[in-house]
Amino acid sequence: MALTFDGLAEVSLARDLLRRWWGLDLGLSEADGKGYVRASHATCESVRGVVAASCAAALEELAGELAKSKDRSALIRRCHAGMVLVVAPVFGSKGLAGVVYATGACTDRNAVEQKLVATIGCGPDEARALSEAVPQLSDGDLERVRDLVGAAAATVERAQPAEIPPTTHAHPFTEMVGDSPAVRDVVKLLTKVVRSEATVLIQGESGTGKELIARAIHYHGPRVKKPFVVQNCSAFNDNLLESALFGHVRGAFTGAVKDQPGLFQVADGGTFFLDEIGDMSAALQVKLLRVLQEGTFTPVGGTKPVKVDVRIIAASHKDLAAMVAHKQFREDLFYRVNVLKITVPPLRERVSDIPRLAQHFVNKHWRSPNPAPRLSQGALSRLVAYPWPGNIRELENEMERMLVLAGDATELTASMVSGRVSGIVNAAQSAPRPLRDVVANAEADAIVASLGRHTGDRELAAADLGVSEPLLAARMAALGIGGTGA
Ligand SMILES: Nc1ncnc2c1ncn2[C@@H]1O[C@H](COP(=O)(O)OP(=O)(O)OP(=O)(O)O)[C@@H](O)[C@H]1O
Ligand SMILES: [Mg+2]
Repeated sequence: MALTFDGLAEVSLARDLLRRWWGLDLGLSEADGKGYVRASHATCESVRGVVAASCAAALEELAGELAKSKDRSALIRRCHAGMVLVVAPVFGSKGLAGVVYATGACTDRNAVEQKLVATIGCGPDEARALSEAVPQLSDGDLERVRDLVGAAAATVERAQPAEIPPTTHAHPFTEMVGDSPAVRDVVKLLTKVVRSEATVLIQGESGTGKELIARAIHYHGPRVKKPFVVQNCSAFNDNLLESALFGHVRGAFTGAVKDQPGLFQVADGGTFFLDEIGDMSAALQVKLLRVLQEGTFTPVGGTKPVKVDVRIIAASHKDLAAMVAHKQFREDLFYRVNVLKITVPPLRERVSDIPRLAQHFVNKHWRSPNPAPRLSQGALSRLVAYPWPGNIRELENEMERMLVLAGDATELTASMVSGRVSGIVNAAQSAPRPLRDVVANAEADAIVASLGRHTGDRELAAADLGVSEPLLAARMAALGIGGTGA
């Protein structure tokens, strides 16, 4: 897989700093070490490819070492000419995908000079001239080089298209995307629920997929050829809702010019999804209880009961058991409704489903014959980190928004994730976040900005921030900024 490298802003910044500060270039090579192309300066160029142990071979060996290592930090080694080689891994879903490197510096010019004579076969004068052109790094410089190479590699890694493995959990409810234990439990329950005729209660926060589950029960069950009718019990006032559910007879109220069948009659033989049942008035709860007990009801203004055969699925984001305890919902109706209960977990409790759901919504809303864009690893990291108070519906809206922003780009990147979800805009208002995260982010921003102003000089940055250098180093270590050097 080709890695994105040259177009990335952070990579350009790291390259620019490496060049300006130490005259080093930054390169990328494939996982097998092939693709070594960049040489930092004339000395580097003149030893490239000389003798069997060329730079590419040194890089290949280091790539092999990184592939086996669990540690993702950059390695510092010497090349065959005694120069420093700093290499950081870029991991993909199938292991090492490539390495980012900077080479051509030294920590000891004499050592390079000796190597040039011994290994490359240079004459003493030539070796001295070549070694004098090699930039020399202090230990602190070396750490900074390592930080920059590591940061560039991390950026390349984040920009890779995310690999979302196909679900390993085959089931007939293909409209239910997800592989988390919670989804598996729901699917297991659904297999039983579709075979029965019992009333189902679906509980879950707003936007968790309650209606999707209700539809799945209907469309995978024996009533599939009959209607699936939905009514939200919080949508109308009491009179309208009663009329909508049970119908009315001519003359029942002003404007009732003819008999009007209710939705229960429309749903006859099929399934009726009563959404937000917790919002139903006490009077309507009694009427609904009768439908559940006897299968009959009386239209508004009518006298003759009507008999129907309807399977009822009810949903609520409120805790109906608690409402019963507070006498806000009839206990007898609760027991009639709560025969089979499905609890849908919020998205923040099934984070492992976010990548699959995100790509599912990209594909769902993609309106072109070309292949749908893929999500980058960086975009996915942001989506996964957000607590999704609005649940799956909010994730779906976010993906639609990203598709609009992307235009005809083949990849959805981190910069296309909305500021709210990325935690950049209105972080404190939009999502509940622990105070320590907010503080840590602000602190990290201030430190990075100050280091940037002082081109990485910690002494000046510490003075700027009004803290001691050891304290700055400790905070940087705690916040995961930079390396451990001076
Ligand atoms: N597991 C899932 N796989 C794929 N899409 C899903 C899944 N769960 C929910 N969705 C989608 O998310 C959106 C919201 O789901 P749905 O309307 O079923 O939720 P809800 O709990 O009824 O929400 P509300 O409380 O707002 O009525 C829909 O577009 C639905 O298709
Ligand atoms: Mg709903």
